[in-house]
Amino acid sequence: MKALKERILKDGKCLDGGILKVDNFINHQMDPILMKSMAVEFVRRFASTDINKILTIEASGIAPAILVGYLLELPVVFAKKKVPSTMDNMLSTKVFSFTKNRTYDVCVSKDYLRPGDKVLFIDDFLANGNAAKGILDLVEQAGAELVGMGFLIEKGFQAGGNELRKMGIHVESLAIIDSLDNNKITLR
Ligand code: G4P
Ligand code: NA
Ligand code: NA
Repeated sequence: MKALKERILKDGKCLDGGILKVDNFINHQMDPILMKSMAVEFVRRFASTDINKILTIEASGIAPAILVGYLLELPVVFAKKKVPSTMDNMLSTKVFSFTKNRTYDVCVSKDYLRPGDKVLFIDDFLANGNAAKGILDLVEQAGAELVGMGFLIEKGFQAGGNELRKMGIHVESLAIIDSLDNNKITLR
């Protein structure tokens, strides 16, 4: 998606360890106009998909997910990273974060992820895909169906995208980063 790619080149910063900092428009300050355009693009790319619910994971997935849900007039559920004290009726899974080098729990209530739900997952980044695979686990535990996954930015030099596509999942990424080597952003 052209507008996103231009914005990444204009305001994205390379950090050590192959991290792209997009605090200027996604992860801290947010640009709602661009966010809306990205949601419109997801709606276009998943137009032939039967969806009844948008699922995301806190925190940075919530903004794009709610705009997609707004456009499609569908409920938006965010998986939580802290298990609530009222733990009954929750599905949970463990996710390993490479960037933070630790494992965390992700959970969602059975009230909001139900058997037969046709779920579109939306998130900001796809890197190793561990968060995405955790979401897939939650969807399967619920007896729901994952009908697609949409990411604002995919890091094409990490394995997540290929692994998810090999599993037969319909993955759409609005911008794919081929390399962040030598402090230079190379887009596909
Ligand atoms: P993965 O599951 O997507 O493979 O990645 P990983 O465990 O490495 O990601 C941990 C967190 O870091 C995720 O957000 C993910 O979206 C984010 N992330 C991964 N690579 C990048 C990157 O290059 N730039 C930025 N800005 N973020 C990246 P999170 O910690 O779950 O947090 P939140 O921001 O959604 O709250
Ligand atoms: Na995220
Ligand atoms: Na993030």
